[in-house]
Amino acid sequence: MSASLATVSYIGATILFILSLGGLSNQESSRRGNLFGMIGMTIAVLATVFGPQVGASGIPWIIGAMVVGGAIGLYAARTVQMTQMPELVALMHSMVGLAAMLVGFATFIDPEASKEFTGAAKSIHEMEIYIGILIGAITFSGSIIAFGKLSGRIGGNPMLLPGRHFMNLAGLLVVIYFGGVFLNSHSIAEAMTPVTVMTVIALLFGMHMVLAIGGADMPVVVSMLNSYSGWAAAATGFMLSNDLLIVIGALVGSSGAILSYIMCNAMNRSFISVIAGGFGTTSAAPKPAGGATQPAGEVVAVNATEAAELLRESKSVIIVPGYGMAVAQAQHTVFEITKVLREKGVNVRFGIHPVAGRMPGHMNVLLAEAKVPYDIVFEMDELNDDFPATDVAIVIGANDIVNPAAQDDPTSPIAGMPVLEVWKAKTSIVMKRSMASGYAGVDNPLFYKDNNRMLFGDAKKMLDEVLTVLRT
Ligand code: TAP
Repeated sequence: MSASLATVSYIGATILFILSLGGLSNQESSRRGNLFGMIGMTIAVLATVFGPQVGASGIPWIIGAMVVGGAIGLYAARTVQMTQMPELVALMHSMVGLAAMLVGFATFIDPEASKEFTGAAKSIHEMEIYIGILIGAITFSGSIIAFGKLSGRIGGNPMLLPGRHFMNLAGLLVVIYFGGVFLNSHSIAEAMTPVTVMTVIALLFGMHMVLAIGGADMPVVVSMLNSYSGWAAAATGFMLSNDLLIVIGALVGSSGAILSYIMCNAMNRSFISVIAGGFGTTSAAPKPAGGATQPAGEVVAVNATEAAELLRESKSVIIVPGYGMAVAQAQHTVFEITKVLREKGVNVRFGIHPVAGRMPGHMNVLLAEAKVPYDIVFEMDELNDDFPATDVAIVIGANDIVNPAAQDDPTSPIAGMPVLEVWKAKTSIVMKRSMASGYAGVDNPLFYKDNNRMLFGDAKKMLDEVLTVLRT
């Protein structure tokens, strides 16, 4: 393929990626957005493999690697459960980081890769390598820890080392110092020490950064690592002089940064505090004995028939889905119940918290899969004021996102996080299997409120029973 055809293909792929991002901003156009992304990626891969940067001798290697990688990806995509998606995404981010790191080292030790650069251009190229390995290493180790936390292999509690901010600062200063040593090295052997020290520090920093983050702040970390993976890809693009990789990396990096900002706003957290690792995290602090919001009172359990009666007698219902709905795969039954209630003239709406579930848009994806119409699905802010006028708020496998302690208990790890105020409805019904806490590991005073009812059991099983009663 000629260089000009490759350039045209790259421009076409870039336009398709931008259209893809635009499409993904709205449920109705998201399928089209995905399609644009797939076509763009196919064009990008073909233009790269058959483009001028790859010699004929390299093609069999690339195709071999693509077959192996594609087979692993296909296997993972077919076997992964919907509830394991967030950890799979974290693992994929780690791959981008690892790739950036490896490309950085390969470019650095291959004398052929840098021979065209001299003077200032050589220094800039070396800086690209140094920064590329740095971002790659942080993304790699941070994403591995995020994978561990999201899959439950590592506990959700923040690991708050004494003097952690000074350690991070000292690490940063050492990395800057060795950056200078690296740029002034005269041989590959001489430059190996600074780049290795920096890589080790970056790996440790990535681990430390994510380990220090409490359960409830994980969404910000997930989107932030998404952003880092984009910047790692852009850095790889600079090292390989590949314009498309630079543009795509910047698109992913900046959209991930915007998403992190939105997540921080949604959770009322300062972006800097979260990425600095556990700033403002209070879960390690001792709680005052008998604090005002220690859950107290009686828990009133109901059965499926009683829950169905409450729903049948209501005029307006708000359904709040959470991670448990994803675990139970209850979304289809939820929609069946919605249809039955709507046929009876009940105003049924869904309230979606921005960090419900385990990945951005998790609940929207599940509801879209069950074909719930978009016009009855609302963001938290759109209907939080409507709870006082609502007869029944039904919480399906959600916990942290409906926890009043976020508003009432300043010592709570989730203090300040906006929540869906389901307790303001005339009656709230919480469906879950036990009194266990949610992802943030915080007790939920909602369960003890006078107007709250608990429907214990697997969400799918209980909703099936509710549906049967409603249909009789
Ligand atoms: P959680 O607070 O994790 O609560 C989910 C509840 O579902 C659990 O308390 C669990 O209680 C219940 N559950 C689990 N399996 C169930 C089943 N089969 N049937 C019925 N109930 C079941 O979830 P949430 O309210 O959606 O809040 C999300 C949390 O995850 C937040 O803390 C958020 O910060 C964090 N997080 C979010 C993301 C993103 S991007 N969304 C990423 C990482 C972390 P039982 O065990 O008693 O059933």
